[in-house]
Amino acid sequence: MGISGCFIAPWKCLVFVGLRLLFLVPAGVPARSGDSFSKDNITVRQGDSAVLKCIVDSKVSRVAWLNRTTILYAGAEKWSLDPRVVRLENTPMTEYSIKIHNVNVHDEGPYVCSILTSNKPKSSKVHLIVQVPAKITNISTDITVNEGSNVTLMCLAIGRPEPSIIWKHRSEKGHTFITEGEYVDMTAVTKEQSGIYECISSNDISEPDVRTVKVTVNYAPFISKARSTGTPVGQKGVLQCEASAVPVADFEWYKEDRRLFNGLNGVKIENQGKQSMLMFLNVSEEDYGNYTCVAMNTMGITTASILLYGPGTMMHDVNRAALLPHCSYCLLLTVILLFLLKF
Ligand SMILES: *[C@@H]1O[C@H](CO)[C@@H](O)[C@H](O)[C@H]1NC(C)=O
Ligand SMILES: *[C@@H]1O[C@H](CO)[C@@H](O)[C@H](O)[C@H]1NC(C)=O
Ligand SMILES: *[C@@H]1O[C@H](CO)[C@@H](O)[C@H](O)[C@H]1NC(C)=O
Ligand SMILES: *[C@@H]1O[C@H](CO)[C@@H](O)[C@H](O)[C@H]1NC(C)=O
Repeated sequence: MGISGCFIAPWKCLVFVGLRLLFLVPAGVPARSGDSFSKDNITVRQGDSAVLKCIVDSKVSRVAWLNRTTILYAGAEKWSLDPRVVRLENTPMTEYSIKIHNVNVHDEGPYVCSILTSNKPKSSKVHLIVQVPAKITNISTDITVNEGSNVTLMCLAIGRPEPSIIWKHRSEKGHTFITEGEYVDMTAVTKEQSGIYECISSNDISEPDVRTVKVTVNYAPFISKARSTGTPVGQKGVLQCEASAVPVADFEWYKEDRRLFNGLNGVKIENQGKQSMLMFLNVSEEDYGNYTCVAMNTMGITTASILLYGPGTMMHDVNRAALLPHCSYCLLLTVILLFLLKF
């Protein structure tokens, strides 16, 4: 069977040549130390090209490259059907090399250069190692939970070698390392745990792959600023109330038990994000007194007492008044007063 026969029945031919090579090159013949063959592993990135070099001399009568037990090239003849495999022609006489274009993970494994020199078979084994940059393939979607819930974040990555995964939490305080591995388990989340979580996947082949998940934690309002104000009669006055909350709080203002509305009774109410302002266009004697700022969202409700006082009022009186729990005291005082008046 000549080489031309192979174009008609390539598989028969492959088996034929394979058997012939097996005969010439007994399986498992080790490359002797001192052979002028490369025995190093060849490491390439997926998508790159790999050159497999084999050094021969003038006494060589037959030579072939094999991928495991499949012949890729036998002499000048290509046996591989894979267009990515080519023989390098413009090489020195002493070199018999092939190139694999666009290497993928399936190409990883042993490649053998079989040589027959003066009827003495030799072989040189090269191990092709294919590296793949770390890549995140799936990550949890952004999530909104109520304070106290349990949250699990997931980040899956591929790569060769197997990539490592670490998690970081981005907050006002900076980046904090959270954990290593595909999953982050958080039990009873607090509002401090809200924010951006970074999944960083790396295997030193290229830049790490980084993706993020946003965790939003809903919590009831807490009033962070409620400042009492001293304002003379006839001037503009402003009472400020600030509440941290997720979702953002809605505000209501009360004087004693009477709700105040924007544009009525000479007051304006202006809400801007986490802040609400009760504005008096022209403060009168009757405006002085105790006001209540109510901040609420789906998670709960919080109140704060704020005083509008005249310039004559002593600060320590104001402070003491501001400390009094608002309505329970008013009610108690009213009850005591009514009791005293009766007798
Ligand atoms: C070549 O690669 C094989 C398989 O990955 C490994 O076992 C061997 O230690 C490597 N040899 C060298 C010299 O790097
Ligand atoms: C080598 O053999 C493996 C397994 O049969 C195959 O998947 C791969 O495509 C081959 N690579 C080349 C370059 O022939
Ligand atoms: C990502 O993982 C989730 C949970 O295991 C799964 O439901 C989803 O289909 C995955 N998405 C992709 C693109 O693989
Ligand atoms: C959250 O996790 C803890 C501990 O695993 C468990 O005891 C608790 O019941 C979980 N809470 C919810 C709301 O699932």
